[in-house]
Amino acid sequence: MNLTLNSPLDMHVHLRQDDMLRFVAPFTAQQFVGAVCMPNTLPPVDRADRLDAYTASIRKAVGDLSFDPYVPLFFRDDLTREELTAMRDRLFGVKLYPAGVTTNSDAGVAELGKIEPVLDILQDLDLPLLVHGETNGYSHDREREFVAVYDHIATTFPRLRLIMEHISTVEAAEFLDKHDNVFATITLHHLCHTLDDVLGGPFNPFYFCKPILKSPRDRDALQSLVKAGHPKIMFGSDSAPHTEVAKRTEGAAGCFTAPVLLPCLAEFFEDHDLLDQLQAFVSDNAQRIYRLDPPRRDVVLEPRTWTVPPRYGSIVPMNAGAHLRWKVQNAPEE
Ligand code: DOR
Ligand code: ZN
Repeated sequence: MNLTLNSPLDMHVHLRQDDMLRFVAPFTAQQFVGAVCMPNTLPPVDRADRLDAYTASIRKAVGDLSFDPYVPLFFRDDLTREELTAMRDRLFGVKLYPAGVTTNSDAGVAELGKIEPVLDILQDLDLPLLVHGETNGYSHDREREFVAVYDHIATTFPRLRLIMEHISTVEAAEFLDKHDNVFATITLHHLCHTLDDVLGGPFNPFYFCKPILKSPRDRDALQSLVKAGHPKIMFGSDSAPHTEVAKRTEGAAGCFTAPVLLPCLAEFFEDHDLLDQLQAFVSDNAQRIYRLDPPRRDVVLEPRTWTVPPRYGSIVPMNAGAHLRWKVQNAPEE
């Protein structure tokens, strides 16, 4: 029997720019009717003119598919009330990267002590704050250490919707229920994999991402949230394409999961006897949390085995070579 999803959404994806954007955007737009398209481009999407230009370039790259790009503005600590108010109607939220914690985040926030005036404006304008929550401490502890920052923000700005992006630890999972204004996205790779997929055998760069994959205990904490149908979690793939050369020679962080997302999620939910909860995880929770009205389009999965190709162009996908049980209807044959 086919599996039908109503208006699935990917609440965290990297679509890049130029040729890479044109190449990867269709994978997302075939499977999702909208996506939060991250602003860590070069230069970052940190002003109104760049927001408009980036949104237009995504729309062009997806062609005729009904698809809404939701582009959050790259956080600047000198954002003013006038600037944010002027873009309020077309602004989805603001994405905060601590400087240097991940790909293209050099323009991020160097001093977290300076962000509060902007957070105050975001709270007043009811604009969500999306956060890459890692310190620059020891890799395995970066997110755990950042939970204190989340706590401070959520306490100081109780009406600000705070989204912990791509949570990867027990500590973040447990923190979710501490404040009404805190929500989270979860990726496919943090839900299904651990650091052993990167380092347990021969080094596998295609599972290397930020935040780094963690322990089975951390992964299980994310799985518990999903299995419980937690209403404050949303699917956000963090699909982050890099060329095979960049992955192998430059140590680029990011997993390209876009082509396999809904098939792998369907498999995970089916294996855990949770298929009836997939719709909430991939759409309904996000619509409620963000008050979205996405394009109405069904995406249909067929129970048909296919093999993930070794490469899409110059990019190696996560799960290359795997045999998957569900296939997105009308997805291009590999
Ligand atoms: O692994 C990652 N890759 N994590 C991020 O936060 C950014 C992303 C990218 O842009 O490549
Ligand atoms: Zn990301």
